[in-house]
Parts: sequence; structure tokens; C-alpha cells
Amino acid sequence: MITAEGLFKKYGKIQALNDASLHVSEGTIHGLIGPNGSGKSTTIKILSTLVRPNKGQVRIGGVPLKKGRAIRQQIGVVPETPRLHEYLTAREEITAYAKLSGLGRAETSDRVRAVIKQLDLGAMQNLKLSRFSTGMKKRVALALAMVADPPVLLLDEPMSGLDPVVRRQFKDTILGLEGKTVLVSDHDLYTVDELCTSVTILQQGRTLIEDNIDSLRQKVGKVSVDIKPQDPAHIPNLAAELQQMNRVTSAEVEKDRVVASVNDPETDIPEVIRIAAIHTDIVEARPSKISLEEIFIKLASGGDET
Ligand SMILES: Nc1ncnc2c1ncn2[C@@H]1O[C@H](COP(=O)(O)OP(=O)(O)O)[C@@H](O)[C@H]1O
Ligand SMILES: [Mg+2]
Repeated sequence: MITAEGLFKKYGKIQALNDASLHVSEGTIHGLIGPNGSGKSTTIKILSTLVRPNKGQVRIGGVPLKKGRAIRQQIGVVPETPRLHEYLTAREEITAYAKLSGLGRAETSDRVRAVIKQLDLGAMQNLKLSRFSTGMKKRVALALAMVADPPVLLLDEPMSGLDPVVRRQFKDTILGLEGKTVLVSDHDLYTVDELCTSVTILQQGRTLIEDNIDSLRQKVGKVSVDIKPQDPAHIPNLAAELQQMNRVTSAEVEKDRVVASVNDPETDIPEVIRIAAIHTDIVEARPSKISLEEIFIKLASGGDET
């Protein structure tokens, strides 16, 4: 549905994109991930026809980028920093946007009603946007992107700056978008983790890897559990005990905790915690995040990826 090949973009002396590529299949939710400054927003702006690449080919639904109007008719965009008219109510803002998108009168009122319902904005629809929280504003921004019912949604870090509850709601909303092709960027792999089936990882403007997220996780392989005992004096002994478990590939001491690496999070983590609890009183035990950085390091040192 979306293909971008060999994208280059320079802002003055800054090479924002340096051979980025991206492929998103129809009807899937695809993550665009990479650290800040890696070129995510530039990529999304190019796909949105807001920024022209110096080089590269883009097609959305088979339409080449130079047919700007035809591209724009297929996409709904949530920009990095959505600009809303704060003096309008949510309903007024969404209605104005629907009309700008070229919807007729009857269609406008149908679609406005539909997105307000879909994004659960009903109770807030007649309040001025200046009174909205960050999370509610993001919701309105998503409503604007969806009101013309485009087949493709481009969401630039839609979940950054949201509290965990709103993030959860947002994830559920995006997961509930049936039949849409969704590109969602974030700087944290964990945000896109439960959302996406495939990802593109950008590093310094270049596509480092494109893959199905499950196979990516398998390649990286490492899952660990952090255990913090109440008595720090127990740490060396705890590490030694956990190290002896068959399930534990390594047990390392890190400051006030032991980090035990395992292969199968489902069965191994509870078992590691159970054994640890026999040896010491545990203050905290949690599965540790595989950071994007760790994935980079793993993949870069693995050398089996292009
Ligand atoms: N309008 C601009 N003018 C100059 N440099 C820019 C502009 N937009 C982005 N950049 C630079 O391009 C690089 C990529 O930025 P961006 O695409 O925003 O990355 P990301 O969204 O991954 O954080 C960064 O070094 C950024 O500072
Ligand atoms: Mg960005």
C-alpha cells in the first residue's frame, strides 16, 4: 500500500534522510521507529506531500508522490505537533476540517458524527479545544485525520506525552481501526510493540531493518527479569542461586538488583521469581524492557542484517 524507496532529504547541511525505505502492506499497522532525529517525521512529511525528497520514489496505493492531490485524498495525517483552533469546539473543528477535505453537507454531518462516536468524543464535543488535555487534543487530531475516511493513516508519534491510561486507550483505538493501513512512528519500540505487526527501524536517516515484529523479537532473543531483594547483602547469593537454574542463561548483578536472562518469558519469568522468593524477600521483580538501543546493538553486532 505504501512503498518508499531510496529516500534522501537534506535540510541545509543536515542529511535528514540518507537512503530510507519503507514498505507497508495494505490493512496492516506498521511501526516507524528510531531515536529522535533519525528521520521519522521527515519520512512522514514526505509521504504527506508536505516535504519534497531530494531523491527517491514513493507510491501510496500505487499513486506516485507527484500526484499530490490524489495522494492527499488517500491519507489522513496526525502530525508531530497537531495545530488545532483552540477557540473552536471539538465538533466545530472536526466539521470545518471535513468541509475542507471536500465532503458535502450530508456526508460531513454523517462522518463528523461517526468519528466523534468512534473516538469517544461525544461528552466533550461542545467544549472549546482550549479546555482539552493533551490526550484529548490527540484524540481530536486523530478524528481530523479520520473524518474523510481515508484508507491510509500516517500518525507521527501519536502517543508521546500521553499518560499510561490514555496511551492504552489510544492503542485500543488504533487497534480497532478496521481495514485501514496505518503507519505509526515512535522513538520507543515498546510503544509500537503491541500495536504493530511489522516495523521499519531508522537510524540516522537510513533504514536499518524492516521486519515482522515477532521475528525481530526472536532475533534479538533476550528477555530478562530484574529482581530487587530487600536486603542488598543477599544479592551475590541470589545471583549464584539463579545462575544455577536451567532456565536462566545468565544472572548478573546490577547495583541493587539481579538481572536474570531467560528464553521464554511466559514460563521462565514466574519460575525465576518463585525461586528467588525462596532465597530472599523481594521488593520488586519485573521483566526488563528490551530497549531500541539494545536491539540496535544486537542487530549491529549480529551482522546478519542489511
Ligand atoms: N525543517 C528542518 N530544518 C532543518 N533541519 C531539520 C528540519 N526538520 C528536521 N531537521 C533535522 O533532520 C533530522 C531528522 O529529523 P526528524 O525527521 O524530525 O527526525 P525524528 O522525527 O526521527 O526525530 C534531525 O537532525 C533534525 O534536526
Ligand atoms: Mg519526529
